[in-house]
Amino acid sequence: MIHEKVIVIDFGGQYNQLVARRVRECNVYCEIYSYRTPLSEILSMNPKGIILTGGPNSVYEEGAATCSRKLFEQGIPVLGLCYGAQLMAYVLGGDVKRADKREYGKTVTEFDTSSFLFQGLPDTSVTWMSHFDAITRLPHGFDAIAHTASTPVAAAEDTDRQLYMIQFHPEVLHTQYGSQMLRNFVTDICGCSCDWEMGSFVDEQIKIIRDKVGNGKVLCALSGGVDSSVAAVLLSKAIGKQLTCVFVDHGLLRKNEGDEVEQVFGPDGSYELNFIRVNAASRYYNRLSGVTEPEQKRKIIGEEFIRIFEEEANKIGRVDYLVQGTIYPDVVESGLGGESAVIKSHHNVGGLPEHVDFKDIIEPLRNLFKDEVRKAGLKLGLPANLVYRQPFPGPGLGIRIIGEVTADKVRIVQDADAIFRDEVAKSNDNPSWMPDQYFAALSNMRSVGVMGDERTYDYAIVLRAVKTVDFMTAESSSIPWEILQTVTNRIINEVRGVNRVLYDLTSKPPGTIEME
Ligand code: XMP
Repeated sequence: MIHEKVIVIDFGGQYNQLVARRVRECNVYCEIYSYRTPLSEILSMNPKGIILTGGPNSVYEEGAATCSRKLFEQGIPVLGLCYGAQLMAYVLGGDVKRADKREYGKTVTEFDTSSFLFQGLPDTSVTWMSHFDAITRLPHGFDAIAHTASTPVAAAEDTDRQLYMIQFHPEVLHTQYGSQMLRNFVTDICGCSCDWEMGSFVDEQIKIIRDKVGNGKVLCALSGGVDSSVAAVLLSKAIGKQLTCVFVDHGLLRKNEGDEVEQVFGPDGSYELNFIRVNAASRYYNRLSGVTEPEQKRKIIGEEFIRIFEEEANKIGRVDYLVQGTIYPDVVESGLGGESAVIKSHHNVGGLPEHVDFKDIIEPLRNLFKDEVRKAGLKLGLPANLVYRQPFPGPGLGIRIIGEVTADKVRIVQDADAIFRDEVAKSNDNPSWMPDQYFAALSNMRSVGVMGDERTYDYAIVLRAVKTVDFMTAESSSIPWEILQTVTNRIINEVRGVNRVLYDLTSKPPGTIEME
């Protein structure tokens, strides 16, 4: 079960995860490590190839991120990208200098297609450049294999030592043949046989879990979201009824969501596991009654979740392992894998309960990107509507209802949200405006309207729909006017208690995606 591995050494560039994803798209397993990782550790993993990422420094600055010259003397193919390319040139005795002008954006580039790196490509295509420094003299043994109008060394190679450098970013989609270049590197240069695929990942994980768990008992907090669902199914395939999933329906889920989760995982579903659904809506509404401050609401929702989870765990008795749906970006973003700053401060509702006694945590998806988790879910037979579900925050509708949460407000926002999702889903040709996350929220504003001959004084629903790559920044999505009008008309006609619908155009920053 040892896969060929390509290692990405991270110098702090913004596209580090993208590089690893592109390599995995070639069915080659790939992991990201910080440039601070000792060379001996990198070599002990026996990589078939190494890729050095971009980064914010200049190689000649004092204290700049660097690497040992020995890295290039191991006979392992190395590809440097942007900063990684400059670093390779600098460490091996070439010159890197600040250019007169920054080269930025889509740039016409000419290639020597006799190089293994560029074989099968046209002589000229567009690449994505983003650099101030440039390689002004190549180290001994290197030849330039690409250039642009202003950069004589857009790429270079030393075929004897199997060292390659690319000044642009092949990992971003703006580089026309970027994926093909990375594929050429991992297949033709590193000689990888491309045997990493989801089916074998799933089979391997099942075996690893069985070996680890033995006869032990495992507990999983199931939210109905993609990650915890895929983790639960994987565990269920591995250990069946030794797994208990606790699903807390806090009454703040989307319309029918609790029942949908139960249909998949409950006694009538297709998986063998112990499923406990805790219907805690009234308990939550009681605790949230009169509470209007957003952080306090979040705290109450989280605390109550842990309390319920603990109560259920205590009923089960001794638990050996707890399952968590941690995925690879969580590992990298929490600063454990690569070089990124700690970005994430969000937590799923609950986190880890403190008083549940367990031996160890199982994180079967720890090495997967989100799209890979989805593929694993499909392999495991999860329904597509669950696998492709948009993200939904742990505190649920609690942070989409501004101010106090009541059962009636939950009903309003659930009904409005269901209509919005229904209408967007009808445009199923995946248009460019298709939001990455969209929902209805309930404002705390009531205003005067007229319905028939009657004066109304009702709530305003806010529609929120964003395009985003990483959920850290976002733009409002340009949903066609007609769709927004249909949604508005339907909400006002079908949802009692609403007489106005507003569309939120705020980007993030300064807005956040959720309302509270
Ligand atoms: P914001 O509102 O911070 O949201 O722009 C960014 C992304 O994170 C999700 N989100 C959460 N997810 N627990 C979660 O599991 C939370 O407390 C939470 N708050 C926000 C939000 O849905 C969006 O995708």
